[in-house]
Amino acid sequence: MTDDAGKPRRLRSAAWFDAPGREGINHRSWLKNQGYPDDAFEGRPVIGICNTYSDLTPCNGHLRALADHVKRGVWEAGGFPLEFPVTSLGESLMRPTTMMYRNLASMDVEETIRANPLDGVVLLVGCDKTTPALLMGAASCDLPTIVLSAGGMLNGKYQGRDVGSGTMLWQLGDQLKTGAITDAEARATESCMSRSTGTCMTMGTASTMASLCEAMGVALPDNGAIPAVDSRRARLAHLTGRRAVGLVKEDVRLSRILTREAFENAVVANAAIGGSTNAPVHLLALAGRLGVPHALADWDRLGRDVPCLVNLVPSGQYLMEDFFYAGGVPAVLRELGPRLHKGALTVTGKSLWQNVAEAPCWNREVIFPLDLPFKPQGGIAVLAGNLAPGGAVLKPSAATPALMKHRGPAVVFEDIADYDARIDDPALDVTPESVLVLKNAGPRGYPGFPEVGLLSLPKKLLERGCKDMVRLSDARMSGTAGGTIVVHVAPEAAAGGPLALVENGDVIELDVEARKLHLDVSDEELARRRARWTPRPDHEPRGYLKLYVDHVLQADRGADFDFLVGKSGARVFRGNH
Ligand code: FES
Repeated sequence: MTDDAGKPRRLRSAAWFDAPGREGINHRSWLKNQGYPDDAFEGRPVIGICNTYSDLTPCNGHLRALADHVKRGVWEAGGFPLEFPVTSLGESLMRPTTMMYRNLASMDVEETIRANPLDGVVLLVGCDKTTPALLMGAASCDLPTIVLSAGGMLNGKYQGRDVGSGTMLWQLGDQLKTGAITDAEARATESCMSRSTGTCMTMGTASTMASLCEAMGVALPDNGAIPAVDSRRARLAHLTGRRAVGLVKEDVRLSRILTREAFENAVVANAAIGGSTNAPVHLLALAGRLGVPHALADWDRLGRDVPCLVNLVPSGQYLMEDFFYAGGVPAVLRELGPRLHKGALTVTGKSLWQNVAEAPCWNREVIFPLDLPFKPQGGIAVLAGNLAPGGAVLKPSAATPALMKHRGPAVVFEDIADYDARIDDPALDVTPESVLVLKNAGPRGYPGFPEVGLLSLPKKLLERGCKDMVRLSDARMSGTAGGTIVVHVAPEAAAGGPLALVENGDVIELDVEARKLHLDVSDEELARRRARWTPRPDHEPRGYLKLYVDHVLQADRGADFDFLVGKSGARVFRGNH
């Protein structure tokens, strides 16, 4: 290994293993208790395998097995693998929301990487927040880094038809509410929905982030769509281990991959795959760690006229297994060629375009061509107006076209408890033309910025066949959810944003084409309301929750902590004895 001047380059791990005297003895001796001879780690790139395996994160339940395949690749390429656990975030079990812990997990990752004799890192990720959390932590250290995703579950199958996780969950909830199905039927469906280990097999947030890792060049081709239990995922793990060593030898740090061009490619790719509204939140936070100029407005500017090419739930019909068999992310990127920064460097050592230029498509019902797209509007619409000075987002491909230009009276819920208590009240004054408004569900207000923005419709309207309404909040929504739903309103109500001032009956205007979200109330009246408004007391005066509420940024800045923006690099200032 040499540096740019052609001189021999010393590995970072050598600062531990070549340390003089007592320090070096200490570092080497305890590794030997694992049976490693000196030449296993001295002079070899040490590759940390950062694993989010946890029994509490079922989506990532197979990551220990995948880690073994990564290790084979690392050994084969002349590296020394060391696997370590980090905080895992399981979407299906954690309360009140995994999002509250994304930044905590990223701190765990950052500090563990920096504190240990690692030269490069493989990030084993899967369930929604594990991908951004690990990338954010790794970005703050900026070592050579490569991602391996868990892969999606096999397609759900129920009574001869496909059922998509997440999306089916929301439908089952509504069907149970109206009595359209029994508890027994719901139980049978839930068993059929989760047929294997792996992440949600819809184009939810996990699949979106796995696919965008490919588009950003931080994972190997096909990382996004190979099913979790397909042997090709294990082979990808092996190849990932090999490339981790190559990245160290070539000194390709994460910041050389995650450039402004990479983020812009991700925005375009997210539009084409009908990706999650959570993607901008995570990528804004990640760009903030790296100091890459990237703003919420970029999502509209770059994604606005990119059509949706992929016919996947929740925007369409098929599931991730079908996506992989149709050609997966490489086939989509090939279609997007003219829209991409083709020369962006990837972890293969080649450009993005070199990776995908020959990628085949095997099924045009699943992946459509750019000139004959699945839906004309992909992307994330970034809305602005007096109701959301910092912006708000909506996913056009999952919305009802007839509702994308709409004026209606607000039905306001002050918080999620208020919503739960009244949404199914037969006396609730609501019609299909109403706009459901939820306050105090943002980063500080809930707290934790949960995925409650879907807002299941009032029972009495569901029973009358109503399928969608305009809904609006400072919360997020699941990437598996669909509907005409405005989320991430910034600033949030709890931070004194105009959302806090909305009252029942106020007319709200949504015009997605004009990117407008307007509260039809005069400035004078809003000023009067603001004079009367008082912030709610914080939920918890101590511990992590206090740290979170005191330091979390708003949605338009990725909801990172203010003190984590920027990166510190991997330097450690002192030894330990
Ligand atoms: Fe883990 Fe959906 S619950 S990816």
